[in-house]
Amino acid sequence: MTAHEQVISRPVAPRAEQESARPRTETRELAIDARGLTKAFGKGPARVEILKGIDFQVETGEIALVMGPSGSGKSTLLAAVSGLMKPDSGSVISLGTDLWTMSRGEIDKFRLRNCGFVFQGFNLFPALTASQQIEVLLKFAGVKRAERRETAVTILKAVGLGHRIDYRPEKLSGGEKQRVAIARALAKKPRLVFADEPTSALDGENGQLAMDLLRKAAKEQGATVLCVTHDVRLAQYADRIITIEDGLITSTNADPNHFAH
Ligand SMILES: Nc1ncnc2c1ncn2[C@@H]1O[C@H](COP(=O)(O)OP(=O)(O)OP(=O)(O)O)[C@@H](O)[C@H]1O
Ligand SMILES: [Mg+2]
Repeated sequence: MTAHEQVISRPVAPRAEQESARPRTETRELAIDARGLTKAFGKGPARVEILKGIDFQVETGEIALVMGPSGSGKSTLLAAVSGLMKPDSGSVISLGTDLWTMSRGEIDKFRLRNCGFVFQGFNLFPALTASQQIEVLLKFAGVKRAERRETAVTILKAVGLGHRIDYRPEKLSGGEKQRVAIARALAKKPRLVFADEPTSALDGENGQLAMDLLRKAAKEQGATVLCVTHDVRLAQYADRIITIEDGLITSTNADPNHFAH
C-alpha cells in the first residue's frame, strides 16, 4: 500500500470546531489556480517529463496537502506553483495574479510580499542564529528593527525553541532546524505558505505543534497553505488532499469526510 492509499483508508475525526470558522455555504476565493502545468528535465533521449499536465485549485484559507511517492514530482510542482521554477507550459494564478507572465523581479517581489517557504532541506543560513534567520527575512519584508527581534523570539517560543534563540544551525538538531524553518516561514504572516515535508524531521509532539501553527495561520490569519508531505498524520489537518503519481494528479479531494471511507 502506498503512503497516499494509507491516507485514503484512514478515518478522519470530525472537525466541528475548525469548520465553524469556515461556513460551507460561503463562496470562497481561489488562492491558487494551476492549469496544465508541465515540466521536463534533460534533453534528447535523457529528457524526462516530470509534470505531465497538472490542474488544481486551492481556496483561500485552506490547508492543501500534496501527497505521492518519492520522485513523483511533488517538489517540482511546489516550485512551479510558488514562483521558484518556471514550468514549460501551463499557468498559475496566485492571489489573482498570473504568476508566470511577470518578470523575474516582479515574481521575487510577489514572493517577498506574499509567500512563506519551508524548504525540504530547510535552507538555513549557516552563519546566522535562529533568531537572525527570522530577523533578516523580516527586514526584507520591511518590518522595523525594534519589532524584528520581538517577533522572532515570540515565534521561536511558539515552536518550542525558546532555549535555542541564539544558536546557529550547526548546534541545532534536524528537528530544531526544521522548526526554525517553519518559524521563519510564518513570521511575516504570509498570505501563502509553501511547505515541503515540514514535519519530516519532527517527532509526534513537535509535528503536531508545527501543524497547529500552520492551521492557526490558515484559520486565524486566512493564509493558504500548500504542503507537500509523506506524513499520513497530517491528513487530519487537511481541507484538501491532492495526490500525484508519475507527474499526474490521481485524485483531489476537498471533503475530508471522503477519507473516512
Ligand atoms: N533540476 C533537475 N534536473 C533533473 N532532474 C530533476 C531536477 N529536479 C528534479 N528532477 C527529477 O524529477 C523527479 C521528481 O523530483 P521531485 O523532487 O519533484 O520529486 P518529489 O516527489 O518531491 O520526491 P521526494 O518525495 O523524494 O522529495 C525526480 O526523478 C528528480 O530526479
Ligand atoms: Mg520532494
